[in-house]
Amino acid sequence: MRKNFGVKSWFYPLPVLIVATYDENGAPDAMNAAWGGLYDADKVELCLSAGHKTTKNIKAKGAFTVSFADAAHIAACDYVGMVSANDTPDKMQKAGFTTEKSGSVDAPVINELPLTLECELIKINEDGNVIGKIVNISADESILDGSGAIDVSKLRPISFEPVSNGYYVLGERVGNAFKDGGALK
Ligand SMILES: Cc1cc2nc3c(=O)[nH]c(=O)nc-3n(C[C@H](O)[C@H](O)[C@H](O)COP(=O)(O)O)c2cc1C
Repeated sequence: MRKNFGVKSWFYPLPVLIVATYDENGAPDAMNAAWGGLYDADKVELCLSAGHKTTKNIKAKGAFTVSFADAAHIAACDYVGMVSANDTPDKMQKAGFTTEKSGSVDAPVINELPLTLECELIKINEDGNVIGKIVNISADESILDGSGAIDVSKLRPISFEPVSNGYYVLGERVGNAFKDGGALK
């Protein structure tokens, strides 16, 4: 037996993306976005409400960064999703986030979040969704393994659980992509 739930914003896993921007005066902002993801091979898509300061900043600067929220910064990542720079201009300081300008785009990199996609705005489509091109990915050395690759067990990215409003850390490795299915060929 299956139970029907109708239409919900349920999707697994949902990411917790921290989108960082500058305003016209160079002040940094960040927000939490779960409605977004990878689009094509080198682009990201974000479903952002028009009234957010972030959305206005992206239109003004044509750039943004996307960092992956991690288990070490739950409160700060949730906070930037609860408070708007429209009425709380010191939101970043209150979150405890510090930033440096990306070397690739006119947008801030949040020092405390170790993995960041640096993106140029391509377009805002007819639904208001933001499409950006990834022009660089930068990672803090603290999340690299011995060969210099990203070690997801060091990153500890979190996922948003929309049924109970939970944050879950990405867990154990249970398989190998493009390999385990080969046993059934
Ligand atoms: C878990 C979570 C997920 C969110 N996902 C989105 C989203 O995908 N799109 C969106 O427009 N707002 C989303 N929000 C709300 C914004 O992060 C929030 O309104 C924020 O205060 C906007 O900040 P800003 O006005 O400084 O840009 C989310 C908030 C939380 C806590």
